[in-house]
Amino acid sequence: MEHSRGKFSSKLGFVLAAAGSAVGLGNIWRFPYLAAKYGGGIFLLVYLILVLTLGFTLMVAETAIGRRTGLSAIGAFEKLNHKFRFLGYLTCLVPILIFPYYCVIGGWVIKYLTVYLSGQGIAAAQDTYFSNYIAQTGEPLLWLAIYAGLTAIIVYFGVQKGVEKASRFMMPALIILSIGVAIYSVTRPGALAGVAYFLIPDFSRFSANTVLGAMGQMFYSLSLAMGIMVTYGSYMKQEDDLEKSVAQIEVFDTAIAFLAGMMIIPAVFSYSGGDESALNKGAGLMFVTLPKVFADAGTLGQIFGGVFFLLVLFAALTSSVSLMETVVSIFQDKFHWTRKMTCTVVLILCLIMAAPSSLGYGALDFIHPLGLAILDFFDFITNSVMMPIVAFFTCLLIGWVVGPKYVTEEVKRSSAFKREKIFVVVIKYIAPICIALILVSSILDTLGIATI
Ligand code: PHE
Repeated sequence: MEHSRGKFSSKLGFVLAAAGSAVGLGNIWRFPYLAAKYGGGIFLLVYLILVLTLGFTLMVAETAIGRRTGLSAIGAFEKLNHKFRFLGYLTCLVPILIFPYYCVIGGWVIKYLTVYLSGQGIAAAQDTYFSNYIAQTGEPLLWLAIYAGLTAIIVYFGVQKGVEKASRFMMPALIILSIGVAIYSVTRPGALAGVAYFLIPDFSRFSANTVLGAMGQMFYSLSLAMGIMVTYGSYMKQEDDLEKSVAQIEVFDTAIAFLAGMMIIPAVFSYSGGDESALNKGAGLMFVTLPKVFADAGTLGQIFGGVFFLLVLFAALTSSVSLMETVVSIFQDKFHWTRKMTCTVVLILCLIMAAPSSLGYGALDFIHPLGLAILDFFDFITNSVMMPIVAFFTCLLIGWVVGPKYVTEEVKRSSAFKREKIFVVVIKYIAPICIALILVSSILDTLGIATI
């Protein structure tokens, strides 16, 4: 089994696939609204520190575990230590829960693309357009199904390679357009206050929830703590430079999130006349704000709006393909169904699980688990509860049970391990202690018992 694994044909193969998985709605939709909500500059600072320490450590660990065992998460964790079998299963649960609601947001993106294609971009710039749209029943469900169907077609026909090839020019196009939009956005009247809010940390806004929010976002955006990098690692060639590849993915992913922040947060300040409550739009922030920017830029803005949502759709698809692929392989390993059967079952399950998230803003808006809309609830328990737990146990397993050498030896097979010291200290001490503290204190916070 282990020997029959295909390998990426080049180092770029691993980097491209991992970057395709990493860069998606997490960067463009999720990062800006969390940064806006959790205090701007302080969130950005905490996020950057986390990417360079915990993110780096976990991504190296997951990739090395995959490459060394040649297995995906369930098999790999079991092989490392029998008692950590549960970790493999817990890890697999994360993409199973994320994939459905990811498709809901993918559906919103297709809707906005059609809005621009049909020349309704100006109407979409109105404040209530987005909230009215997501409160409907039929249309959001339809676009959700189309988005999930598109993902399933790509996975079923196995054309990921083609999608990855296309991403070689779609990604740079997305970056160039985003830089253009960010420059336009930053130069709107009143936008500089937003730039300051996003870039300058205000330590009075610091809280355990800021760290938990940034941590969950970091896992989500880098596709960590859900077994994906373990699988990609298992396809990576022995001689490819693991440490450098990880660094490249991190830089690329963070740069795109940063750009998205620069497109959206200054624009929020400009169009709300500096009213900070506009920052709390939550999951809708990008969909409410960007159409205003495009409307401001006249006819050209409408064209750019269409192109922008097309490129975002593409980035989202490369991520949801990676999510669905993971779920399909979990089911296939477990039940040994044919690929066609597995894809069909996963698609149907996804639609059943996604429907409540979509309806949670309209027909089902009387349901508020933990006081959240249904989609936000799934988002919260995966990113802020399950992923930190998975990360915690991964650190314990590597740091204390099998020992960091298991990973450092694997990294050194392809190159010197420059940040070995940081890796060992973070995985043994800093990460488990910080994750545990943050989780506990934010749970207490949620229950209304004040901590930090
Ligand atoms: N990292 C992706 C994003 O930022 C989301 C994702 C998570 C994709 C997990 C695959 C696996 O949008």
